[in-house]
Amino acid sequence: MSETPVYSRITGTGSHLPEKIITNADLEKILDTDDQWIRERTGIQQRHIAAEGETTSDLAYEAAVKAMQAAGVSADELDMIVVGTTTPDLVFPSTACLLQARLGANGCTAMDVNAACSGFIYGLSVADNFIRTGSKKKVLVVGAETLTRMVDWNDRTTAVLFGDGAGAVVLEASEAPGVLSTHLHAAGEYADLLTATAGVSKGFTAEERGGLKIEMKGNEVFKVAVRTLGRIVDETLEANGMEKSDIDFLVPHQANLRIISATAKKLGMDMDQVVVTVHKHGNTSSASVPMALDEAVRSGQIKPGMTVLLEAFGGGFTWGSALIKM
Ligand code: UT7
Repeated sequence: MSETPVYSRITGTGSHLPEKIITNADLEKILDTDDQWIRERTGIQQRHIAAEGETTSDLAYEAAVKAMQAAGVSADELDMIVVGTTTPDLVFPSTACLLQARLGANGCTAMDVNAACSGFIYGLSVADNFIRTGSKKKVLVVGAETLTRMVDWNDRTTAVLFGDGAGAVVLEASEAPGVLSTHLHAAGEYADLLTATAGVSKGFTAEERGGLKIEMKGNEVFKVAVRTLGRIVDETLEANGMEKSDIDFLVPHQANLRIISATAKKLGMDMDQVVVTVHKHGNTSSASVPMALDEAVRSGQIKPGMTVLLEAFGGGFTWGSALIKM
């Protein structure tokens, strides 16, 4: 007797942005940069910045509550919490544990996944696999970041790019799909092209924040991102025996409008089938995909039954995709 396969399905989404906004005009006052350069090269017009004392778990909590409300799932029903983040409140406890305590979801599995900007896709894949094996039924997956805490505000090549925020989904076991497939990759040989420069084991310096800042060789990152995202689109379609035209909506990582447009072009998609938030949020690393998904679900752009492709690329390098039936 064959058993009914178990799928995981997104039953609720949520997101949260810190209140404070920094516009390109604000950055013109402190950096040798201009609004036109930032808009033309990245598509970014503004970004949200966490207030002093406002942490990644604070943003994660607000997003998680909204996702759980949308799903109609209470904290004591959660079997697992996975937080994709590269800017945890502390080295430990994990941000997932801090979030678990705040939600009152005590007792369930809780862990962080650090895959830089691909953290949410990695987390979603982890959760999907736990649900498919039958060991978990209701999982909260969050992407949350306070990346601006690592920004070197004297470096125009990175300071204009990043922002803070959080997005979340509730993933539940379901007889109907759901998450159709996830695909994860990494290439550690590119570590030096995009890196946070200090850490517990490597050590800190006497500089501000112990020398912790984001360094990126943007142009080289750009080329690998476009190439690998193109490849993962093919891999995802092939794994599901689908054509480009089968995808209704693209929810890409929001790093650069030019990278987003290149992926949309590769898929033969009009930009009105692509969720774009980079102009409002900047690059929020692992928060960008779940925040964009939540916005598109709540605005009615993405509707139940649609086939949606999520993808992300980030430091590591890491990259990943998830094909989802909403
Ligand atoms: O989320 C993780 C993955 N990250 C990404 O995917 C980011 C990928 N990279 C990018 O998005 C782009 O490479 C950037 C937006 C970071 C940079 O755009 P670019 O078109 O690749 O510019 P570039 O680095 O080649 O720099 C072009 C020029 C340089 O001046 P010169 O050498 O041509 O005189 C830079 O110094 O632009 C200059 N520049 C700036 N000018 C004004 C760099 N940053 C700025 C700035 N304002 N903020």
